[in-house]
Amino acid sequence: MSHTREHWGSRLGFILAAVGSAIGLGVLWKFPYTVGNNGGGLFLFTYFICIIAIGIPVLIGELLLGRKSQRAAVGAFATLTEEKPRWKVAGWLGVISSFLIMSYYSVIAGWGMSYILMSLSGFYHNLSSTDMASVFQKLSESGSITVFWHFLFTVITMGIVLSGVRKGIEFWSKIMTRALFAILFCLFLYSMTLEGFGKAAHFIFYPDLARFKFSSVLEALGLAFFTLSLGQGIMISYGSYMRKQENIPQMACVIGFSVIIVAILAALTIFPVIFTFGFQPEQGTGLIFKTLPYLFAQLPGALVVSTIFFTLFVFTALTSAIPFIEVVATNLMELLGWSRKKAVLIVAASTFTFGIPSALSNSHEIFRDWQSIYGINFLDTIDNLVSVWIIPIAGLLTAIYIGWVLKRDIPKNEFPFGKKWHFYFLLWRFFIKWIIPITIFLIILQKSGLVDFDYIFGLSR
Ligand code: ALA
Repeated sequence: MSHTREHWGSRLGFILAAVGSAIGLGVLWKFPYTVGNNGGGLFLFTYFICIIAIGIPVLIGELLLGRKSQRAAVGAFATLTEEKPRWKVAGWLGVISSFLIMSYYSVIAGWGMSYILMSLSGFYHNLSSTDMASVFQKLSESGSITVFWHFLFTVITMGIVLSGVRKGIEFWSKIMTRALFAILFCLFLYSMTLEGFGKAAHFIFYPDLARFKFSSVLEALGLAFFTLSLGQGIMISYGSYMRKQENIPQMACVIGFSVIIVAILAALTIFPVIFTFGFQPEQGTGLIFKTLPYLFAQLPGALVVSTIFFTLFVFTALTSAIPFIEVVATNLMELLGWSRKKAVLIVAASTFTFGIPSALSNSHEIFRDWQSIYGINFLDTIDNLVSVWIIPIAGLLTAIYIGWVLKRDIPKNEFPFGKKWHFYFLLWRFFIKWIIPITIFLIILQKSGLVDFDYIFGLSR
């Protein structure tokens, strides 16, 4: 099959689209509560190490697989090593991740849409912090309302993907990513004035060894992969739209550090609210919905600030959700010869349907006993399955593939020329070949319970 691939209109367009894909609900919704659940400090530090030492090298790998093959995830593995078709499984894992994430991502984004409406009506202005928390509870327990927003978000995402995605992504990402940076920065400045800021900074940055557990490392790694859009086939697709003259390692660093900066800004905005107004950091998935509206209600122009924030929240979710549908659809188009329209419609209908149990996970209208049998609700189960298992395993396979299966010249030719870059190439290759596979393998071993490093190093509590 021959493909004439569109390419990104400009370097900035690519960066903002990739950063727009990376920065989404992972940083705004998942990151704060995961840091809260894992005790702050050292977990955050572990997350940053995972981004820099594992995430960025794998990101470089995914981008170059895409650019070299000019194919989507499954096709990339199939084309670059035709004689080893089994490696397509790594591409399929990415497609499965994107599918599963989209199914519940639109539920969370849907809640964000609901908060836009609530902000506009000024509904929560005079509520206490406890009442604010119960607003979220009520919303998440209302099955029909959650399904309605889940449906709407899926339809909007599908509409954008249907109408030629790259121009759409590039255009919207340019505006939205910048607007999000700006508003987050303003909110951060305000949070700095709250009395709980010092306590929050201590919670976030103080590496309390006593709270460190090896078992949290897989969560940190999963979060790093999730936020960098790795192991989801996304960066392979985005790489396939890159021009030959773009500097992949440099771009990967820009994306990685942008995620770190936004994550810090988000944490330094949300945690001062938690510590000032008496919320608990371990609130789980509802953390951002329970805390930020309370912060907004204290501000002058609450209605405007709150509406703008949740609008950006939804847009940033959109710029991340578009590639989920795009990735699954383009793979089906390439493999089955389906038209874009057919593929996108089928994928969107399927993610919506599969997402219904997630949308109903708090109302318990379906799979009533799920939580009592599995310990967590359906949405969290799928999120856990993808973030903690599928994505890191996809990352592990990608690293092994690039380091051990792919001919050395293929990645070498995708690196820029020159002595300096040759050194970086050798360093990157060493990480991809040795450090990353071994680290991910050990982390998975710990998580699986086969080896307990907490016990070996005397960290069990
Ligand atoms: N990278 C996307 C996010 O973090 C999936 O939301």
